[in-house]
Amino acid sequence: MGVMHIPGHTHQAPREVRLDEIRAVLGDCRLCELCQTRTNIVFGVGDPRARVMFVGEAPGRNEDLQGEPFVGRAGENLNSILSLAGLTREEIYIANVLKCRPPGNRDPKADEVLACAPFLREQIRSIWPDVIVTMGNPATHFVLKTEVGITRLRGRLHQMGHFIVMPTFHPAAALRNPAWQKLLEDDFRMLGDYLERHPAAPVPSAQGPVAQESDALPTAGE
Ligand code: URA
Repeated sequence: MGVMHIPGHTHQAPREVRLDEIRAVLGDCRLCELCQTRTNIVFGVGDPRARVMFVGEAPGRNEDLQGEPFVGRAGENLNSILSLAGLTREEIYIANVLKCRPPGNRDPKADEVLACAPFLREQIRSIWPDVIVTMGNPATHFVLKTEVGITRLRGRLHQMGHFIVMPTFHPAAALRNPAWQKLLEDDFRMLGDYLERHPAAPVPSAQGPVAQESDALPTAGE
């Protein structure tokens, strides 16, 4: 797959396209059946120049009602452990693999991920963070292009082209499993250590190279 075309851009270099332009392409999306049951599209929230981007699975009930990611119990857990990484909610960006809530919080279906993931891909290209934190299996599988489970991938940082990827447990799953909560917190401390030891990467020029597959941005379906 190439690059999802954003009107007004011939090249979509890192940080060239603004998030509101991607949101405009998403519009009142009807690409999958989730449009029939959603209340709000949950696009993403945070600093468009965030150094660290967090990716979850899909909106839950509260997120669907409020139109914002991670505002329910999982979000409270995330907020409470961000400081372990030396981060605040204001300085990060948060998005999900799916922009609409699956009914009853069921797992995302493959065709839904296929339809929705190009928007996440462009969000990542727009923000161009140094670090992507993938929370849970769907986000991790999409970003790292693997089917390996989170328990085997977490606990270390993965280089993916330009990005450092930190797979970790989903904060909702960790709430149900104290052992995972401890490991989630360990991972956030590891992230804090990394950020402290590595200064921010230079900002690429808006006239920089045309986006290429070598960016290692995940493609839907891989
Ligand atoms: N779980 C997610 O994966 N994303 C949210 O936005 C909320 C809960």
